[in-house]
Amino acid sequence: MQTGEGYFRESEPNELVPEDYFGKLDLGRYFDDPKPLEIDLGCGDGRFALAMAEEFEDRNFLAVERLLGRVRKVCRRSDERGLKNLKVLRLESLYTMEWLLPDECADRIHLLCPDPWPKGKHHRKRLFQEPFLRAVERVLKPGGELLFKTDHREYFLWSEEELEKFGRLERLTWEEGDFFYPKTDFQLQWEAEGKVMNCLRAKKRD
Ligand SMILES: C[S@@+](CC[C@H](N)C(=O)[O-])C[C@H]1O[C@@H](n2cnc3c(N)ncnc32)[C@H](O)[C@@H]1O
Repeated sequence: MQTGEGYFRESEPNELVPEDYFGKLDLGRYFDDPKPLEIDLGCGDGRFALAMAEEFEDRNFLAVERLLGRVRKVCRRSDERGLKNLKVLRLESLYTMEWLLPDECADRIHLLCPDPWPKGKHHRKRLFQEPFLRAVERVLKPGGELLFKTDHREYFLWSEEELEKFGRLERLTWEEGDFFYPKTDFQLQWEAEGKVMNCLRAKKRD
């Protein structure tokens, strides 16, 4: 891939490198079979996406992460496990949601333990706000779901308010254990420190 003048990087196994960063992705080019699609935004070391892809062979997973080291790790692990239904995209989450993903392509979008940007002057950097929610509504299929977890109580309350202000996604109940949902690396780490997770689930109306 050309990432700057004269600089090329070999793509990793299972890495999704878009042909065109300025148009909508043709997902059929990158996944072997058309299946329901789930997107994990800011996948980190990929524990969640890898476990989901192993559990649900009948679904496709796209893990999005901006840090190259983490992308490489997830690609290597998915290759070692022989997963064909997980691809990793090295890109910024909001850009991916707003510009790359086609309309109504995803069944579920996961946003797990994103950076809470706790200082007031940084709140504008929080992902969970109107531009992101607009993109979520566009990218989800009717009936598709957004699942969000954070240990940061104030960010969680902010997100609840943002969701309500947005008004076009319907809040659903979600208790830990309601369905198969592996814990991420950060969740495990934070629970070990005694922190409590807050969960939010919302769906696009049918
Ligand atoms: C706190 S970690 C959580 C990782 C993983 N979801 C978990 O729960 O273990 C946040 C992750 O999101 C990535 N990240 C932060 N902002 C991002 C952005 N705007 N676009 C893509 N990835 C981002 C970071 O590099 C990091 O890996």
